[in-house]
Amino acid sequence: MTVRKAVIPVAGLGTRFLPATKAQPKEMLPLVDKPVIQYIVEEAVAAGIKQIIFVTGRHKRAIEDHFDRNLELERNLEEKGKEELLKIVREIPDMADFIYIRQKEPLGLGHAILTAEPAVGNEPFAVLLGDDVMVSEPPAIRQLIEVYNRFRCSVIGLQRVPEEEVEKYGIVGGKEVDEEVLKLDELVEKPRREEAPSNLAIAGRYVLTPGIFDALRKTPPGRGGEIQLTDAIQLLNSREAIYGRILKVSRYDTGDKLGFLQATVDFALMREDLREPFLKFLKKRVKKEMKDGGDG
Ligand code: G1P
Repeated sequence: MTVRKAVIPVAGLGTRFLPATKAQPKEMLPLVDKPVIQYIVEEAVAAGIKQIIFVTGRHKRAIEDHFDRNLELERNLEEKGKEELLKIVREIPDMADFIYIRQKEPLGLGHAILTAEPAVGNEPFAVLLGDDVMVSEPPAIRQLIEVYNRFRCSVIGLQRVPEEEVEKYGIVGGKEVDEEVLKLDELVEKPRREEAPSNLAIAGRYVLTPGIFDALRKTPPGRGGEIQLTDAIQLLNSREAIYGRILKVSRYDTGDKLGFLQATVDFALMREDLREPFLKFLKKRVKKEMKDGGDG
């Protein structure tokens, strides 16, 4: 069966971005002029996904509104003859079918995925974490779907990280079975440096078989007292093979302030209308910093 559905958990409080996220979801923060969550949805859609299941929480209404039509705005743009903007606004709700399910309590990523079970049913599905924005061709989630189509097993997106950062991620161990493809034998959520099986980190993209739901039900709270998706995949690994694919992507952690700023700069430089004037500004700015004794 092909992967048709994607689950995107968006129930998190976004405390790392307070006060910006006091009254708006962190997923709606823009990179240039598009909310982060739209880049994530566009990646899924470009990979052939037809249905997006958002696992949401209170205070996330803005996400639902963003992927809905806004007739008042459309009428206004139409009257003013702003055809280009009208097209941009109209295309958003037509990208996919959108489904919203509430995660009633913040019990962890694993619990959020289990909440999506009634909408996913008994078929393989993609998971995209909203903080990890990825730029690549083919799209990151497509790279995983290709491996899924070969083995018909769950596939985890991986990236090498510096050793001092393993404590921030789910870390895997396994054997390489093909170029950049591993058969995994160990998954640990945020291990201490000396306990990490490798420096291969789970990078916020997954294709999972529906067997994960049963594993999630049997997974006790782990790291931070939360039900961890990583622990459930480790449990699933005792029944089904799990593969990992080292992603060929540029990845930005937009849940982190520095990562968000880096993404903003790169996305602005990728824009034809902004590249030239923005680069001119950056060059001038760097030159001034150097002159004033910045460390470059
Ligand atoms: C989550 C996962 C972790 C993964 C990370 C990727 O952690 O639990 O395994 O490596 O996303 O961004 P979080 O960043 O939500 O703490």
